Amino acid sequence: MKTQVAIIGAGPSGLLLGQLLHLQGIDNVILERRSGDYVLSRIRAGVLEQGMVDLLREANVDARMDEEGQPHHGVELAFDNRRVRIDLQALSGGKSVMIYGQTEVTRDLMEARAAVGATSLYEAENVQPHGLETDHPYVTFEKDGETVRLDCDYIAGCDGFHGVSRQCIPADLLKVFERVYPFGWLGVLSETPPVSDELIYANHERGFALCSMRSKTRSRYYVQVAETEKVEDWSDERFWDELKARLPEDVANQLITGPSIEKSIAPLRSFVAEPMQHGRLFLVGDAAHIVPPTGAKGLNLAASDVNTLYRLLVKVYKEGRTDLIERYSETCLRRVWKAERFSWWMTSILHKFSADEDFGRRIQQAELDYYTGSEAGRRTIAENYVGLPYETLE
Ligand code: APR
Ligand code: PHB
Repeated sequence: MKTQVAIIGAGPSGLLLGQLLHLQGIDNVILERRSGDYVLSRIRAGVLEQGMVDLLREANVDARMDEEGQPHHGVELAFDNRRVRIDLQALSGGKSVMIYGQTEVTRDLMEARAAVGATSLYEAENVQPHGLETDHPYVTFEKDGETVRLDCDYIAGCDGFHGVSRQCIPADLLKVFERVYPFGWLGVLSETPPVSDELIYANHERGFALCSMRSKTRSRYYVQVAETEKVEDWSDERFWDELKARLPEDVANQLITGPSIEKSIAPLRSFVAEPMQHGRLFLVGDAAHIVPPTGAKGLNLAASDVNTLYRLLVKVYKEGRTDLIERYSETCLRRVWKAERFSWWMTSILHKFSADEDFGRRIQQAELDYYTGSEAGRRTIAENYVGLPYETLE
């Protein structure tokens, strides 16, 4: 088999890159280890930055998002039994975010790809990139018991944190930066109306809580739990009680509870791999970096990597500019580190770090009081939350 760009992974990174390249007439093949149904069964984040929304429009997958997604112009921080609204739109020069689940984005991209007849091979096993340092890289994999070779010009490693692509960069060239937090998020999805029209991020002495949503009838809530907690020990009732205990009273009183339709614990981690390219291989999204979910940046960072690689590949194929693609990694990393910083900071001011750290708790309260009480403080939260601008490439 032969293509121009071999894409490993059919998560949002791989699918969005594939769709954008296809629209520019750049041939690509997606190789995915799992089945399409498995990929669609994963419940992930749901806040899209303006830049990602614009990119989905460019990829012609905006119809259902415009119908079912909800533009949000503000977000709330709760602490000391009070709520402060951050007016995203007013403080960021008119930008806002879109509430639309990652699962829905993935479904729209899969359908768009099927409609244009581009090749996606699901349940491809033992996917392995080769010849990265040559001008003729290729990928081998097994499909239905046969070994297949896919020749290409470039390989996009969109295969997430546990993928094979990052491991292909020689260990002596790869530097990894990591912070693992001693807690996770226990999340519940329920067919109940959201407690508030906007998201509420709550700092409480019992631990962090988040009220989010997927639609007018479907809510997503989270509470911080110790890394040792097991999901089996959390009945729905225990979850709702803990959530209510961490929310300001007026919010807790309005909370409508119901049976959970999904419940899981996600660990919190900050991770960056540098560089994000090696020869003809480019790492995109979770393959290169992870953020704790507190700033809603994971999916959006994947989209900004896609934006960069897509535009650089268009320069290669339309203008013969093979020099600019050398700057993929440094271009991405500038924005990646800023989003890492914001996600780390949101995590640090909103979570409970240790039971007996009184000094740290007072600093957190002072930080929340200062940032929310100052227009400059609210503005810096808003401009990061809606997403820093994408860099323009020469
Ligand atoms: N071969 C082929 N496919 C693979 C391999 C492999 N060796 N390893 C992993 N994959 C597939 C996974 O099955 C998955 O479908 O790669 C895909 C990676 O998708 P994601 O983990 O969703 O990563 P990405 O597309 O970068 O999406 C960005 O942002 O909000 C966050 O973590 C959230 O998934 C989200 C991510
Ligand atoms: C979610 O809705 O799943 C969600 C929202 C905001 C976050 C993280 C997760 O910061």
